[in-house]
Amino acid sequence: MSIVDVAQAPAQHPISEPAPWWRQAAVYQIYPRSFSDANGDGLGDLPGITSKADYLHDLGIDAVWLSPFYPSALADGGYDVADYRNVDPRLGTLTDFDAMLDALHTRGIRVVVDIVPNHTSDQHAWFQEALASGRGSSARERYIFREGSGPDGALPPTDWVAAFGGSSWERVADGQWYLHNFAIEQPDLNWSNPEVRADFLTTLRFWSDRGVDGFRIDVAHMLTKDLTEPLPSQAQLDALPRDGRHPMVDRDDVHEVYAEWRQVFNSYDPPRTAVAEAWVDKARVPLYASPDGLGQAFNFDLLEADFDAGQFETVVRDNLTLAEMSGSSSTWVLSNHDVVRHATRYGLPQPARDDTGRPARKHGADWVISGGVTPVLDRPAGERRARAATLFMLGLPGSSYLYQGEELGLHEVAEIPAGDRQDPTFFRSAGTDLGRDGCRVPLPWETGNDGGSAFGFGTGGSHLPQPAWFGDYSVAAQSTDPLSSLELYRSALSLRRTLQTGEHLEWIPTGRSDVLRYRRPNGWEIVTNFGTEPYAVDRSDVLLTSRELEAGTLPGEATVWLGGHGME
Ligand code: NOJ
Repeated sequence: MSIVDVAQAPAQHPISEPAPWWRQAAVYQIYPRSFSDANGDGLGDLPGITSKADYLHDLGIDAVWLSPFYPSALADGGYDVADYRNVDPRLGTLTDFDAMLDALHTRGIRVVVDIVPNHTSDQHAWFQEALASGRGSSARERYIFREGSGPDGALPPTDWVAAFGGSSWERVADGQWYLHNFAIEQPDLNWSNPEVRADFLTTLRFWSDRGVDGFRIDVAHMLTKDLTEPLPSQAQLDALPRDGRHPMVDRDDVHEVYAEWRQVFNSYDPPRTAVAEAWVDKARVPLYASPDGLGQAFNFDLLEADFDAGQFETVVRDNLTLAEMSGSSSTWVLSNHDVVRHATRYGLPQPARDDTGRPARKHGADWVISGGVTPVLDRPAGERRARAATLFMLGLPGSSYLYQGEELGLHEVAEIPAGDRQDPTFFRSAGTDLGRDGCRVPLPWETGNDGGSAFGFGTGGSHLPQPAWFGDYSVAAQSTDPLSSLELYRSALSLRRTLQTGEHLEWIPTGRSDVLRYRRPNGWEIVTNFGTEPYAVDRSDVLLTSRELEAGTLPGEATVWLGGHGME
């Protein structure tokens, strides 16, 4: 299907029917190993999540998305899955999963699980079988094995570079090489093999039958590949247009996979949902978000934008247009498990940008490398801007994806000793990127860290070290403090439920290039002052502010919500 076909697709649901829940949900991402540890082994687990069901309910979210909780050797934080239809024994059992699901469903919270279809773990039974079975075997056909180049095939088949650094190929004992676009321990699956396709349908049914409400699809744009010989070089791959025919990414034929998945989703009542993690050209996002495919796709534009009115406005305009093209709703993300937390990003100087406008280097990476020393982090400014950006985002039409700990205004942790780091990026990038551990440090629930309580995370310490300042950001420190970040999120999410309305917005001119103001169809207005000069607000029906108004004016780096009259 081409972009033009997608643009002409009918809207996904008739106006008269109530909109499906996922269209404008607040979805809270849990990184299970770092949320709450019930059994005191230093690793978060499913009973830990169950024990916080009331917390999640009181926060006011509509759904949780669980990053992988499957058996895994943790070569990539669980995105190396050894068994797609089970729970890592360190995190619990399938019975614990059912209990968690029940606790969340009982509280009206839906559950989305992560599916990782591009690659398995090297510990997966299939890969172990492929190693044992040898060249030419049907077991190797589930993955991408090739002979090497050079004398005796001792060199990788191509010069391709993996996402975490180093070659994309790894040699096995009998001399063949297998493809891994991510870590060595994450062999890419062969999506031309019908057995691979059938197995993922079984996995989707397995979790749907257990009652999960939806799926987040990891690297959804990379499953299908054209590996016709001769294979291109990395330079040739880089030079090829990403127009649906690229050998490696965002191929048109990946949508045949998702059309099959859609049939599975729609065989349930209510239909199961899916959201694509697809790093593709903007114009091609609607293909993933199409109702015939996954139904919704992430947009990471806010996450890459500076705290800047012009950039935010462009991101919103572009993505609402894309959502209209697919008939889906837009998604918004400020933080997740792969990036420096937004309270920290906004307290650092703005990143240099490449000629496509994207940050030339991951924002905050240099600060992390310096151990959090340079450039100097302006914590209060970062938190002020983060609060303003969050209220701006939560007012937008569509779904907001929140990352655990952002409700606490938590900063990235830079002070992790090399010996404690876990991210493959750190091990493979020769020190140029310390990776993503700093946003994955276990959450602080209590103010104190006495006797290994890990700030209330669990009684057995914390698998990534928590800094002393974590206590100040803990749930206990913030609960009931009306000025805290946690209470701001609680108020915003609860108000958002009552204010949610048709998926439109109208921009209201402000006469200022650093102030954005938009109105939703029920009169709910969101005003964000990205600058430092106060902005006079001409209405008195203030619902919520990220900073106190001063004599009717909105201070700098702040958002206010005004009026609105409930669901329309
Ligand atoms: C995207 C995930 O968000 C990231 O954490 C992971 O490392 C890669 N996909 C590979 O699975």
